[in-house]
Amino acid sequence: MKHLHSTLAIILLLALVVAIVITLINYFGSKPYNRKIALLGLISAHLQLVIGLVLYFTSPLGLEAFSGANMKNSLSRLYFLEHPLMMILAIVLITIGYSKAKRAKEDYQANKTVMIFYILGLILVLSRIPWSTWSILA
Ligand code: HEM
Ligand code: HEM
Repeated sequence: MKHLHSTLAIILLLALVVAIVITLINYFGSKPYNRKIALLGLISAHLQLVIGLVLYFTSPLGLEAFSGANMKNSLSRLYFLEHPLMMILAIVLITIGYSKAKRAKEDYQANKTVMIFYILGLILVLSRIPWSTWSILA
């Protein structure tokens, strides 16, 4: 599960960057909205949410570590509180962006919506990845 979550993290980061770049190009080039590419980011995000939730209830770093004492430890707090909370918020933003874009009447509106919500989501994701302990980088 941990390995899957780690691999999906890379796929999600790539999917978000690709979706943002293509949507930016379409927005500034006044081209049609590419729903498929935004959908790729959305699906990666939802899959990661499900795997993350499973990890949260099974890993010793997740809910099990939730305590006042661990609150004082910044790495431990990142895992049991900040990482899950921020990632869920990021995925909510990405989902809102995708849904709003789906209902947009004009292509430029859809492009703008995905651009803004996906960039905000990506920033939140980047801000709370456990960079210092990520097994792929270590
Ligand atoms: C805890 C689990 C999940 C929650 C709470 C969740 C929630 C949502 C929500 C709120 C939407 C927005 C619907 C809309 O306004 O269009 C959505 C859409 C979607 N979800 Fe999930 N989801 C979850 C898991 C998954 C999984 C595991 C997948 C598949 C890999 C998935 C694939 C999709 C797709 C493809 C759409 C958009 C379909 C479309 O409108 O084109 N979701 N989900
Ligand atoms: C945007 C989505 C997410 C990304 C990009 C992401 C990324 C990561 C990464 C890179 C790690 C480190 C893995 C390693 O050291 O090999 C990790 C660990 C973890 N993540 Fe996430 N995550 C996301 C969402 C979530 C969510 C929604 C939850 C829970 C609700 C969650 C719970 C956890 C837990 C509990 C760990 C620690 C697992 C362990 O080492 O035992 N993640 N995540």
